[in-house]
Amino acid sequence: MVEPLLDIKDLDVRFSTSEGETRAIRGINLSLNPREVLGIVGESGSGKSVTALAVMGLLAKNANVTGSIHMGDRELLGMKDRQLSSIRGLKIGMIFQDPLTSLNPVYSVGWQVEEAISAHQDLSKEKRRAEAIRLLELVGIPRADDRVDDYPHEFSGGMRQRVVIAIAMANNPQIILADEPTTALDVTVQAQVLEALQVAIDQSHASLVLITHDLGVVAGLASRVVVMYAGRIVEIGTADAIFYSPAMPYTHGLLGSIPRVDDDGGARLRQIPGSPPSMIGTQPGCPFAPRCPLRKDICLTEEPALRSVSSTTGTEAHQAACHFASDVVTMPLASMFPDTSDDHEEPPQ
Ligand SMILES: Nc1ncnc2c1ncn2[C@@H]1O[C@H](COP(=O)(O)OP(=O)(O)OP(=O)(O)O)[C@@H](O)[C@H]1O
Ligand SMILES: [Mg+2]
Repeated sequence: MVEPLLDIKDLDVRFSTSEGETRAIRGINLSLNPREVLGIVGESGSGKSVTALAVMGLLAKNANVTGSIHMGDRELLGMKDRQLSSIRGLKIGMIFQDPLTSLNPVYSVGWQVEEAISAHQDLSKEKRRAEAIRLLELVGIPRADDRVDDYPHEFSGGMRQRVVIAIAMANNPQIILADEPTTALDVTVQAQVLEALQVAIDQSHASLVLITHDLGVVAGLASRVVVMYAGRIVEIGTADAIFYSPAMPYTHGLLGSIPRVDDDGGARLRQIPGSPPSMIGTQPGCPFAPRCPLRKDICLTEEPALRSVSSTTGTEAHQAACHFASDVVTMPLASMFPDTSDDHEEPPQ
């Protein structure tokens, strides 16, 4: 068996707020294997960023974290900031949603890539600059040797995000954590940035955790996909299992809201009605039940555990948190949620 790079056990994160305690993460178990691309998807507020921030030790001060996060034989939870800074940037590279907040506007892009290199490597000035240019070229900055002294505002949004990718891969990290790396970009640029990300992981042999609310974005890259809802993993499996045999109605709903290249053009986009639950206080039952077209009485009283889905998809690794997962997995895609695309409001009389 391969030794996981990162092993998260019973992760639980609560925030104290003026309205009460927010249970942002409720018992996550997840491991990341060497050289794998793991997609984490889920609607806004499902706990994707909090999971990533917990790994990096970057949660806000009002967070109360329990469980364990192992990287090799080191426990990251509870590590002092100084020890963690030897892991951030060196073992784990990070890419956040908005490149403008990750890049400093007063320094040239080249300086910022060099700065990332010199935080962990002792190279001469010339070698550092050459390495910065090499990295910028690698992520697809045209004429990188001419552009290395430009400032972030002289770059387009997609190019800035490529600079952030160059910084994340500067020290050959074992893991690249990308939280919504393409959300702020338009679709064409999104594809180019994803390509740069693919180059980054091919070159550095890193594992990638790709966090997004968009299943379409993980489709081309991820080998395994985690679906989160209300602070829990509600489904996990190979990308094929998640895309072709989802076993949780919520995943069906997420899939219904993206255009698919493999449909015959007749399928309509469908939205999941309603919105995610408040994470303050605990309600009994499955948190998705109020929005679920298949809910039965048991769903309102008993929260389903994450369990292996019956042999239909052939792998032990496919798990879902649904009382009726073995039925759901056999259901045709796009049949579960009503097609609301023709609905329109009556004009006022
Ligand atoms: N510092 C904080 N204080 C209180 N609650 C917080 C804090 N940070 C996050 N939360 C709450 O934790 C929950 C999970 O948030 P998180 O940012 O992980 O969502 P997400 O899945 O990344 O959503 P998005 O797609 O919008 O980025 C939310 O209910 C959020 O309001
Ligand atoms: Mg987020």
